[in-house]
Amino acid sequence: MDRVNPSSVVVSFSNVSRMLGKESVAETVPAELAALDPAERARLQAGLEAALTILEDDQREPGVMVAPNHRPAALFQSFLAEQAATQGKVEPTKAGGYEAKFDEKDWLGWAGSFFSWWRKLKKHDWLSAHPDPLPMPSGASIAMLSDWGTGLYGAPICADSIQRAKPQVILHLGDVYYAGTETEVKERFLRFFPQVPGAIRRASNSNHEMYSGGYAYFRNTLPALDQFASYFALENDRWLLVGLDTGYAEHDLFGDQVAWLDRLMKRAKEKGQKVILTSHHQPFSIFEGQGPKLLAKVQHLLTSKQVFAWYWGHEHRCVLHAKHPAWAMYGRCIGHSGFPYFRETVGHTPVVKKNADGSQWHQLDANDGVPGALFLDGPNAFLPGHENRYGPHGYVSIQLGQDSILETVHAADGSKLYEHELR
Ligand SMILES: [Fe+2]
Repeated sequence: MDRVNPSSVVVSFSNVSRMLGKESVAETVPAELAALDPAERARLQAGLEAALTILEDDQREPGVMVAPNHRPAALFQSFLAEQAATQGKVEPTKAGGYEAKFDEKDWLGWAGSFFSWWRKLKKHDWLSAHPDPLPMPSGASIAMLSDWGTGLYGAPICADSIQRAKPQVILHLGDVYYAGTETEVKERFLRFFPQVPGAIRRASNSNHEMYSGGYAYFRNTLPALDQFASYFALENDRWLLVGLDTGYAEHDLFGDQVAWLDRLMKRAKEKGQKVILTSHHQPFSIFEGQGPKLLAKVQHLLTSKQVFAWYWGHEHRCVLHAKHPAWAMYGRCIGHSGFPYFRETVGHTPVVKKNADGSQWHQLDANDGVPGALFLDGPNAFLPGHENRYGPHGYVSIQLGQDSILETVHAADGSKLYEHELR
């Protein structure tokens, strides 16, 4: 087969094990790394073995993208996807895109360059910029995508819908799969990211982008979006929106961000602005882990009820929490823009609204201090052959008012699944 675009290639355990067998991948390691010192060799070997186990555990449907939160697994997938794409060693999948298709002989030829690439990867330097808020129009409309960097499934459809809607601000809350390499940033992210003349575009840092050291995020994404640092702020006379970097230090706030945030929050209080936060990782979750390190750093701002709303991704689902009883904050998880995620078992929870596209909103109860929520469930038409196993893709837009925001959850095609005024 001819070479294909790397943005359309997936690497899952089913094809790795079919092409190589789990054991044979591990067995190639000592020969390739014979010249290394034993500790380094053991570290790489253990990393690859853990990656294969994690990929096996994470595997759902054959031919559909999986991307565990595991650095060696992500690097292995990025490497294989790119090799397979450029050498045309792929086969089409029912779900869309291609699966990498190679054999043990290919891997034996590639293993050396994989390990030397992995060994050389270092973390990009932190950019300490303390950016001042950039002005945005009063009444600005803001479209938000998250966990969108697949280049597949509903991701390009969401981008087209946003491009047609022409919002004034477009945000990506992070994750370009598998490891945010330069090829992936160019082909799975920048190639599809909505282009609207005059719009401010910003992208958050994330765990997947940092798996390759964050180089492509800092060197390709930021300049392409005219963004000065991995954290940013936008404002108009009534609102301050602050984008935090929770990826550089995973699920935490690195460096001088807290001092910068405190300064902006103090200024917002003096100016009478309401505050919206965005980040890749969650402060809290009704399904998965909480964000204790992140919360500890912003607790004082939450308990003083200074944050009106917080949008995040990382978890692949759409969850609209009720106003937090102690913090008076609306929390939103919106990581459902392009990554194929298996549906939760929510059949026992009440359905509060059925949508025209077959999706529906479930009411989830508060749980261990996390406010109850509306949860979007339904099939995903962008995964042919697997529609009923994966949840819907879409995005969120907000329109800033004087003291309230009009929040809309869109299906990937732009149609409205939920609209509500938050005040
Ligand atoms: Fe993530």
